[in-house]
Amino acid sequence: MSCMRVIGTVLAVLLGNSSTYAQTSTLWIATGNDVAGVAQRSFTGRASLADGRPVFRTFESNNGISVAEIAESALDEFVGLIHSGYPRCGGFTVHASREAALNEVNNAANIAGFRAPGRLPDTIDQQSVVKPALDQVSGATIVRMITALQDIGTRYYQTQKGQEAAELIRREWEMLGSKRTDFSVALFPHGWIQNSVIGTIRGVSAPDEIVVIGAHLDSINQQNRENAPGADDDASGVAVVTETLRVLTEIGFKPRRTIQFIAYAAEEVGLRGSGEIADKYKAEGRNVIAALQMDMTGFKGSERDVYLINDFVSPELNSFLTTLLQEYNSSDAHKITHAETSCGYACSDHHSWTRNGVHAAFPFEAAFADYNRAIHTPQDTVSTLDATGAHQARFAKLGIEFLIETAKSAGDVSAQAR
Ligand code: BES
Ligand code: ZN
Repeated sequence: MSCMRVIGTVLAVLLGNSSTYAQTSTLWIATGNDVAGVAQRSFTGRASLADGRPVFRTFESNNGISVAEIAESALDEFVGLIHSGYPRCGGFTVHASREAALNEVNNAANIAGFRAPGRLPDTIDQQSVVKPALDQVSGATIVRMITALQDIGTRYYQTQKGQEAAELIRREWEMLGSKRTDFSVALFPHGWIQNSVIGTIRGVSAPDEIVVIGAHLDSINQQNRENAPGADDDASGVAVVTETLRVLTEIGFKPRRTIQFIAYAAEEVGLRGSGEIADKYKAEGRNVIAALQMDMTGFKGSERDVYLINDFVSPELNSFLTTLLQEYNSSDAHKITHAETSCGYACSDHHSWTRNGVHAAFPFEAAFADYNRAIHTPQDTVSTLDATGAHQARFAKLGIEFLIETAKSAGDVSAQAR
């Protein structure tokens, strides 16, 4: 994520900073002890809030994770500090209160070896629905949607253009589902300009059981917020999610369970949009069966096609995806080769579900070592991606297999077993 490229900006901010932050609003975060230590050292003695409190201070820690309070106005600086390579990129979550952040450091779901409690399907039995659906996937359609999002210029979460992107997605999804009475789209507001977008196909027989496919709609470029095309990161994920919706409505798929298509706001600043959504669903006792994240699908950086991220995810859901790939993508026109890879930290919105005890997974475009170095820069445009959309289409196919085999068709009696 061009971590080294932001060092200059971070240094400029550090050296040129005035000693007082005008605002006094703070956020609570949970982050690795290593990151917390680096931030503590960097912020100490350098500046304070208008009411005299420090800009950053660390409180309790457990399981290698610390609770810290940070000035809201210092959040961007904190993101930059992490990106500058100390000691890795990313890896923090934002919470509404000290109690919520404390719950996070004590959260069993963050400890390696934790198993999400929900039951995933143990049969793959929707071949008659999945196979014709795969033939409908169009790389060109995906590339068109990526281009439309990139051409907005920036989708930074605190900008009007960032909200225009949310509106564009809402309009597109409403148009795709306009012939259905079981489909609706809603904006999900947050405490910043950009909304998340949630499209819902209501389940016929188990409407309270929810299957989620999502991608983040925001983009970032720390040098210049106005120039963040974010084609791969993550217009390519939103376009793939949109394609799964297009194909499912095209074939008239009626699911037993409810399916939600989510474009998350504010991922790049601490998984904030997905965090608020997943926390709310948990608080309301909503039953999310599984959540699939699509983040970066257009850059074929490695030999294999799809790399399943294997940390901060559900191993059971990864096994389920592997079985789907064997069943539907081992040969012929829909062939997809695959392997596993690690992010090394909570690198995208799947973690918001994982930490709430939901089975989540994240199929990625390359091995982590080969990720697209253009992300978070003005060079993250469609011109650096697969122009045919063939690579992106593989992710749409896997997404469609996941949705149909997890939500199951309401029309097919043989598919009623779970
Ligand atoms: N798409 C990236 C995550 C990513 C980058 C995964 C490269 C695999 C390879 C995502 O949008 C991102 O940038 N996430 C942040 C973390 C977040 C908690 C601020 C990051 O990686 O710095
Ligand atoms: Zn990113």
